Amino acid sequence: MLYLRNLIYHPTACPTPILKALNLELAPQRLGLIIGPSGSGKSTLLEILSGLADPTSGAVCWREQELIAEQLQQLAGLVFQFPERHFCGGTILEELRLGHPELGSERVKQALSEVGLEHLSLSAAPHALSGGQQRRLALAVQLIRQPNLLLLDEPTAGLDWSMRRQLVNLLAKLKQDWTLLVVTHDAGDLLAIADCCWTLNHGELKSIDPRTLEAKVKEPLPAV
Ligand SMILES: Nc1ncnc2c1ncn2[C@@H]1O[C@H](COP(=O)(O)OP(=O)(O)OP(=O)(O)O)[C@@H](O)[C@H]1O
Ligand SMILES: [Mg+2]
Repeated sequence: MLYLRNLIYHPTACPTPILKALNLELAPQRLGLIIGPSGSGKSTLLEILSGLADPTSGAVCWREQELIAEQLQQLAGLVFQFPERHFCGGTILEELRLGHPELGSERVKQALSEVGLEHLSLSAAPHALSGGQQRRLALAVQLIRQPNLLLLDEPTAGLDWSMRRQLVNLLAKLKQDWTLLVVTHDAGDLLAIADCCWTLNHGELKSIDPRTLEAKVKEPLPAV
């Protein structure tokens, strides 16, 4: 279980806090979805949850234990927005083993099969894959470390309709085994697979029922 308790992020150079006393609870094997416009603080929150930045005050807890940045780096796996831009392995195998040369072929196979890429050659170049396959590989790069919490920043950005559909289906499957927190400015079809949902506006987080939001999105446009 992930808990945020009154989490504040307020760099001294900023006149107002970027994240304002956030409280959140996310149970294991659930998909939490945070929806917020550009500049609302989504990526900043994921940086804190993945141990890349320290909050100004408040706590991030896993089960009942408060975690510091080094522990969060172990606990969480962050998939950046447009993760394919950060690939640096020459082959799929190299990409999966970056920083973990000790990982055996079983773990490599398992990670690829979790994201439906088991049929690919390990010697293929990551950049030669399709856009959808690259996103899947980026997920496998995190899953191979077996993090307790998978954090995804705009996972469907830039994908066409069919690749987007496939990725949403994959995330629905992954939440059977993992705990996922997804941030996006465009919830779209992610709403259907979200177990809990929040909106983030100017650093303020509010809980909202994903089903209510889904119904609203599907409402017919008023006649003009
Ligand atoms: N260390 C920092 N110092 C000053 N301002 C910062 C810092 N980190 C982030 N910001 C500002 O905080 C706000 C939130 O940024 P963030 O990147 O988290 O938004 P976002 O919701 O991810 O936006 P987008 O949808 O465009 O990716 C922005 O106005 C950004 O300029
Ligand atoms: Mg962002």
